[in-house]
Amino acid sequence: MIVLGLESSCDETAAALVDAEGRVLADVVHSQVKLHAPFGGVVPELAARAHLAAVTAVVREALARAELSLADLSRIAVTTGPGLAGALLVGVSAAKALGFAADLPVVGVDHLHAHLLAVQLLREPDDVPTPFPYVALLVSGGHTGLYRVESPTDATLLGQTRDDAAGEAFDKAAKLLGLGYPGGPRIDRLAALGRAEAHRFPTPLAGREGYEFSFAGLKTALSRHVELHGVPNDEAGLADLAAAYQGAIVRPLVERSLAACEAEGIPRLVLTGGVAANRGLRELAAARASASGVELRVPPLVSCTDNAAMVAYAGLHADLEGSLEVYTRDASRRRGRFGRGGELLSPQRHTSRA
Ligand code: KG4
Ligand code: ZN
Repeated sequence: MIVLGLESSCDETAAALVDAEGRVLADVVHSQVKLHAPFGGVVPELAARAHLAAVTAVVREALARAELSLADLSRIAVTTGPGLAGALLVGVSAAKALGFAADLPVVGVDHLHAHLLAVQLLREPDDVPTPFPYVALLVSGGHTGLYRVESPTDATLLGQTRDDAAGEAFDKAAKLLGLGYPGGPRIDRLAALGRAEAHRFPTPLAGREGYEFSFAGLKTALSRHVELHGVPNDEAGLADLAAAYQGAIVRPLVERSLAACEAEGIPRLVLTGGVAANRGLRELAAARASASGVELRVPPLVSCTDNAAMVAYAGLHADLEGSLEVYTRDASRRRGRFGRGGELLSPQRHTSRA
């Protein structure tokens, strides 16, 4: 059984081939970062056009690298959401066309569900699967949530951000400080040189129980700081600010993840999503997990950031009769209660089945 995965939900056009064990046979990612960088964020219309230009080439490249043809495939898996509508439609249309041409079933995969399973991908000869169940902290540019992952088809949302995603908080801060896009890696690099105790940022939802996060207030605090004091004009000043800001994002992420491991009785934590690359997050998570007797698993960076191998893996187990309708928002958000600003009032525990 070999699955072709396709991913086009945001600014990566990706195709990958994965076998029944989760072994990655080919993994091709075409990033649009350079295209969007001048705008300081992803421009949906440009993203969709760029996906259309790249989608055939990434599929060809994946098949060529694995020395396979369409005739060797058992199914095609494609991200149906959440993401940018025009971008998603390119991937789904390509998947449908390929499925029609090669007489293959096409299954829809939830992008967040795929991120939760990325840790299962086997890329190196001695890689081993991660045993279920585990608690997963999914931290990316568009999403931040804690999940209990039971099996390849079964994940429960424990809590998520009320407003901005962690990656968004990094990206917005970098923009405010004139560091460019995407901001996470730049803040990360600066933070390693700075003193986190040089500034105090509010800890979002401090003292509250549960697994929700909030990062919008942090961004406001930084923007006030910049209004009052200006952007530091030396690297040491920038580094201190970056270290303090990064610490304020990372601390609640790690604390709540370990609280979830304890409450759920699961001594295994997985970090995933682009922000899992953050050194501050990895270091604090490693220290706290080891102190609490929790096994920490962080997939390699290529599995953490957007890729199609995780989509193919989720597609191995996906429902053949599932819908291929695209959706732009997190399915769990669509099920929660919303305030007038679109903020989530009561996150519901829900089960997502891919
Ligand atoms: O998962 P991803 O590649 O795309 C989605 O959003 O789905 O995540 C991208 C996000 C961006 O917000 C980027 O700034 C952030 O991940 N990021 C980082 C780091 N590397 C990427 N944030 C903090 N530290 C990093 N080293
Ligand atoms: Zn993603």
